[in-house]
Amino acid sequence: MKADPAPLPTIVVLASGTGSNLQALIDASRERDFPGEIIAVGSNRPKAFALERAAQAHIKTFVVDHTQHGSREEFDAHLMAELRRLDPDLIVLAGFMRILTEDFVRAFRGKLLNVHPSLLPAYTGLNTHQRVLDAGDSLHGVSIHFVTEELDGGPVIAQAEVPVLADDTPDTLAERVQQQEHLLYPIVVRWFCEGRIRLGAQDVLFDGAALAEPMKLAAN
Ligand code: GRF
Repeated sequence: MKADPAPLPTIVVLASGTGSNLQALIDASRERDFPGEIIAVGSNRPKAFALERAAQAHIKTFVVDHTQHGSREEFDAHLMAELRRLDPDLIVLAGFMRILTEDFVRAFRGKLLNVHPSLLPAYTGLNTHQRVLDAGDSLHGVSIHFVTEELDGGPVIAQAEVPVLADDTPDTLAERVQQQEHLLYPIVVRWFCEGRIRLGAQDVLFDGAALAEPMKLAAN
């Protein structure tokens, strides 16, 4: 008799918006050898299109509406309770536009990934595309990082560079950055589910060794 295959690591995706990164993850998770299972998608916005994408893919959804909670602490406590119930191995923030409390981040240390549209540590925070253009930079990109207490400051796992073109606007730049996000995030989630990446004390361990610098996806 054949033994049952080991259960796959479980993933919860949190998204606030259109969910194109979620879609890239759903598409990747349909590949036969994908080493994880998306068990739920949560949002702080009841009308987020990401929830529709999840429903289309027959993935369970939940909402913790931030407008229904008086404080950040109360919102986070509810979100934490949902996540504790689901008990995933990995929580993927995919355009989740809420700043999480330190308690929340500590509770899920090493299990929280985020995508940020810049080559961190440059341009933490919002409006990165406009700020890159204002600064006259020739190179922009995307970072996938572990989430720690410091906003957009957790150890970076991987980056993809995007050249800035002379006639770029924030929108054209955002579009090319997003194309890279959709390629890079599934790769990193795959690594996590395969047990290849872990959050160390202050760094990323890749196959057990500290990464001296983020992994790079070649620009294309
Ligand atoms: C992404 O560009 C991500 O970098 C930023 O929010 C956006 C989310 O887009 N944090 P989507 O909802 O995945 O389409």
